Amino acid sequence: MAFPTETVYGLGADAENPDAVAAVYALKGRPSGHPLIVHLAQGADASYWAEAVPDEAKRLIAAFWPGPLTLILRRAEHIPSAVAGGQSTIGVRCPSHPVAQALLAAFKGGKGGVAAPSANVFGHVSPTQARHVRDEFGDDSRLAVVLDGGQSEVGIESTILDLSRVETQGPVLLRPGSISAADIADVIGVMPAKADAAAPRASGTLESHYAPHTPVVLVPAFEMAGVLARLKARGRRAAVMYYSPLLDVPDAFFLARLVMPSSAPDYSHELYAALRSLDEALADVIVVERPPQGAAWDGVNDRLRRAAHDASGLLEELLA
Ligand code: TXA
Ligand code: MG
Repeated sequence: MAFPTETVYGLGADAENPDAVAAVYALKGRPSGHPLIVHLAQGADASYWAEAVPDEAKRLIAAFWPGPLTLILRRAEHIPSAVAGGQSTIGVRCPSHPVAQALLAAFKGGKGGVAAPSANVFGHVSPTQARHVRDEFGDDSRLAVVLDGGQSEVGIESTILDLSRVETQGPVLLRPGSISAADIADVIGVMPAKADAAAPRASGTLESHYAPHTPVVLVPAFEMAGVLARLKARGRRAAVMYYSPLLDVPDAFFLARLVMPSSAPDYSHELYAALRSLDEALADVIVVERPPQGAAWDGVNDRLRRAAHDASGLLEELLA
C-alpha cells in the first residue's frame, strides 16, 4: 500500500511483520541491508521502538513532530531487525500529512508502526504525487492501493538525524531536509555534525540516488547559456531546469524547459515533479542550473548532487 506524506509518498508495511517488510523490499528492488523508517501516529510512544529516548530526542519530538524529521535511535530488543536492515538502530518519524495521520491512527489503534521507504524503485526519483507512484510500479498487482493525498507539501525526504550515539559522538545529520541543522541546533543547543564513516548506513546517503533516467548535469548560472549553445552546436538534445533568467538562449536550444521557483521551500516542493517531467522529454541530458548554496538550500543541493552523480564527466563527453 502506498500513502502520501508531507515529504514524499511512502510504500507502507507493518513494521513488526518481517514478511510484510520483506514484500516492500522486494517491490522496491531495495537491498535488504538498507533500513526503513518507521512511521508513528501523533502522540505515539517512541520509547516502544527505542532502547532509550535521549533528552535531545524528546526535545526535537516536542518541537518538530508531526513533521519531516526522522530520528535514528538505538533499536529496542523486541523490534524485529528486518525493518532496520539488520542494524541495531531504528529510524522513527511522525508525518504531518492528514492522510498519513489518519492511516496511522487507524492502524493497530495508533499503537503500530508503518515502515515506509519512499514509493519509488530503488535509486529512482521519489514520488510527490499519487500518479508518480503508479508511474513507478505500473499495474504491478503487488501494489493494490495508492492513497491519493495530492502533491506532497515539502517535496523532498525528511531530515535524518542520528541520535543513536549522541552520548559519545553528539548528533549527526545523515540526510539534510527542510528542517535544517540550524533549526535542530536552536532546539538542542548543539549543531549536528555531518555524517562520518561510522554513521549508520542510509541509502539516501549513497552517492548516486534520486536520479531520473536521463542523465542530469549541474551547471553554474554563468555557464548556462554557453553550455546550451555548445550542446546545440553538437546536435545534443537538452532539457533545462533553471531559476535565473536565461539570457541569450533561443528556444530552439532545448527540447523542454522548466522555470523553477527562487525560494528553497518552493523549489523543493516542485523538484521531483520537475525532474520526472523533464525525463519525459527523452532528451540526451537534463541541464540543471546550480541552485544557490546557502544553508536553506542544503536539502535541494544534496538531492541534485546525487541525481547528477552518475553523469559526472558526461558534460565533457557531450561537448567533446
Ligand atoms: O520523508 C521520508 O523520510 C520518506 C517518507 C515516506 O517518510 N521516507 C524515506 O524513506 O525517504 P527511504 O527509505 O527512501 O529513506 C530512508 C532513509 C534511508 O536512507 C535509510 O537508510 C535511512 O533512512 N534509515 C532508516 N532507518 C535507519 C537506521 N536505523 N539507521 C540509519 N539510517 C536509517
Ligand atoms: Mg528513498
